[in-house]
Amino acid sequence: MDFASEINRRDSDSVKWRLYKDRDIIPLWVADMDFAVAPEIKDALQARLDHGVYGYADATESVVEATLGHLERDYNWTVDPDWLVWLPGVVPGLAMACRTCSEPGDKVIVSSPVYYPFLVVPEVAERTVCDVPLTRDNGHWRYDLDALEAAARDPRATMMIICSPHNPVGRLFSRDELAAVVEIARRHGVTVVSDEIHDGLVLEPGLSFTPTAVAAPEHAGDMITLMSPSKTFNLAGLNATYAVIPDAERRTTFQHHMKGPVMRPSPFALTATEAAYSKGHAWHNELIATLRANRDRLIAAVNALPSVHMDPIEATYLGWIDVSALRLNDAPAWFEDKGLGFSPGAPFGDDRFVRWNFGCPPATLERAITRFETAVSERAHELGLG
Ligand SMILES: Cc1ncc(COP(=O)(O)O)c(C=O)c1O
Repeated sequence: MDFASEINRRDSDSVKWRLYKDRDIIPLWVADMDFAVAPEIKDALQARLDHGVYGYADATESVVEATLGHLERDYNWTVDPDWLVWLPGVVPGLAMACRTCSEPGDKVIVSSPVYYPFLVVPEVAERTVCDVPLTRDNGHWRYDLDALEAAARDPRATMMIICSPHNPVGRLFSRDELAAVVEIARRHGVTVVSDEIHDGLVLEPGLSFTPTAVAAPEHAGDMITLMSPSKTFNLAGLNATYAVIPDAERRTTFQHHMKGPVMRPSPFALTATEAAYSKGHAWHNELIATLRANRDRLIAAVNALPSVHMDPIEATYLGWIDVSALRLNDAPAWFEDKGLGFSPGAPFGDDRFVRWNFGCPPATLERAITRFETAVSERAHELGLG
C-alpha cells in the first residue's frame, strides 16, 4: 500500500486533474483522492474484468452480505437485506428521495454551508429549498435546533436532508446531536434523508461515526439513508451507492421514481463494493493515518497565517478555509493564479470560504502549502495585515 507516490492523473480521464491540464495548478477541489485503491479491490476488479462479460448486474448475495456485515460490524446497525436499494450515485438518490418524500412546491430543509447539490437538487425536482444555516460558535459548527424547529413547523416543509459526516465543515455529529435533529423533524412530520457518503472518513481519534438511523432508532423506519463506499475507498468514478429504506411502501415509491432516470450500478461498482467492505480494512487503516497527518499538517500551516483560518476537521478529507480577511473579489480565481485549484465556497452557500481537498500524497500537500503560504503572506503584506 502506497500513500506517498504521486500517481500521474493529469494525463488520465480525471475530472479533478483535467480542469487544469495545461496550467500549473494543483487540483484540490472535487472530492476524490489521488491514491490508488486497496490492492484487494484492484484484484477483485481485475478478476471481474477477466470474466469478459459485462451485462446488467444485480447485487449478489455476497455483495449484500459484505454491505450488511459492514453496517452491523462497524455501526451496530442491523439492516434487513430487503431495505437496500442499489443506485449509481448518492446525488441521484437525493433526487429520488425528493420525489418520494415530498410533493412539488413543498419545502426541503437543508443547512448551509453544505454540499451544493443539496441546494440544487430539490429545486430541479420543483421543490423549494428552505435553508436553515448551521451555526458556527468558536470554530464549532452545529445544527441550529431552534431555527430548525421553526422551519419544520411550516406545513409545507415535508423533508430534511442531513449531511453526516458533514461536507464541507468536517463535523462528525454526535449521536445526541443527530437524535435531536431527527426528533424535531419527526415532531412536525418531516421525513429525514441522511447523506452518509463520508461515513468511513473519521479522522479525530476517539470519535466514531453513528448512522442517523442508529442515533434515532425510534424514527429509523421513517428515514432514507444514502451510503456508498465511494468516498472512503476512493471509488467515486465507479458509481456505487445504496439507499437504506426500511419502509416497504416508501421503498416501492422510491424504486418507481428510479424507472427511467436512474440506472442500476455497473458490475464493477458492485464488485468493488464487496471487496471494499470485506477486504479493505488494512488499506483503510493506512488511509486514515495518512489523512490524519495531512489534516494536522494543513491546519497547523493555515492557522499559522494570521489572515486565514481553518476550523477543526473531525471527518472527511476536506478543509473549509475562511479567506475573507484577504478581501479578494474572486478568491477561487485568485488562488488559481497562485497555482491552487480550490472548490469555491459560494455554491456551498458561503463565498468567504474555499474548500481544500487534502486527500493527496503528503508531497503534493506540501507543495500546495508552500504556494498557499507565499500567496497569503504576500496578500496580507499588501493589506497591512499581521
Ligand atoms: C455529501 C456528499 N454527497 C454526495 C456526493 C456525491 O455522491 P455521488 O458521486 O455518489 O453522486 C458527495 C461528493 O462529494 C458528497 O460530498
